[in-house]
Amino acid sequence: MSLQRKSEYPVDPMFTCRWSPRAFNAESIEPATLMTLFEAARWAPSSFNAQPWRFIYGRRDTPAWQPLHDALNDYNRSWAHRASVLVAVLSSTTWTPPGKLQAQPLGSHSFDTGAAWASLAFQATLLGWHAHAMGGFDRERLRQALDIPEDHAIEAMVAIGWRSDQDVLPEALQAREVMTQRLPLDQLVAEGSFTFNGRHRNVDPAPSLTGAERVAS
Ligand SMILES: Cc1cc2nc3c(=O)[nH]c(=O)nc-3n(C[C@H](O)[C@H](O)[C@H](O)COP(=O)(O)O)c2cc1C
Repeated sequence: MSLQRKSEYPVDPMFTCRWSPRAFNAESIEPATLMTLFEAARWAPSSFNAQPWRFIYGRRDTPAWQPLHDALNDYNRSWAHRASVLVAVLSSTTWTPPGKLQAQPLGSHSFDTGAAWASLAFQATLLGWHAHAMGGFDRERLRQALDIPEDHAIEAMVAIGWRSDQDVLPEALQAREVMTQRLPLDQLVAEGSFTFNGRHRNVDPAPSLTGAERVAS
């Protein structure tokens, strides 16, 4: 159970215990454990069950690690070099419906792949690992190094690791090694219409009164 995060309503602790640390211990990950994470991602829902997510991974101390590592920006490399595995998260922007020969655009490719990445991250949490998504990397470099075709979007990279003491981190990052909080639910969820950001629906303030009555009142 997370001591630093408090939900407004009861949820499984898995949801509040998942977070994105940067201090990893540079240990290797068993291939079967890694596959369990991808297995969780595999069962995510997707539009048409098209399953557009694709993952390319490189475990540390293997040849596949270096191109992923080298695509990271300096900031992310400063901590993610101690991860156990780096993953490129891709999505197929098209799909071919059953019985058709022609691929067609898949509008939900990013949305679906977001669900798959989240499943992977929650499965990591359940096993005591941590999965930290990253947007800070050179997409073109990664595309070339991993031979990613143009009809696949590069959504993110993920560093997966086992947590270690935060003093392995550069000093500036040690202060950031804390669980983040969240916006309150009432800023995220509305009943019936868009009432966020101080917007209020233009509803009749007194629907039982006629226009003339309102003027008089
Ligand atoms: C798409 C995406 C891109 C991110 N990019 C980075 C990044 O480049 N570097 C980094 O340190 N964290 C990155 N993060 C991690 C977020 O900062 C983190 O998920 C957010 O602050 C919420 O914290 P939590 O995951 O610990 O709950 C990214 C997360 C996502 C989902």
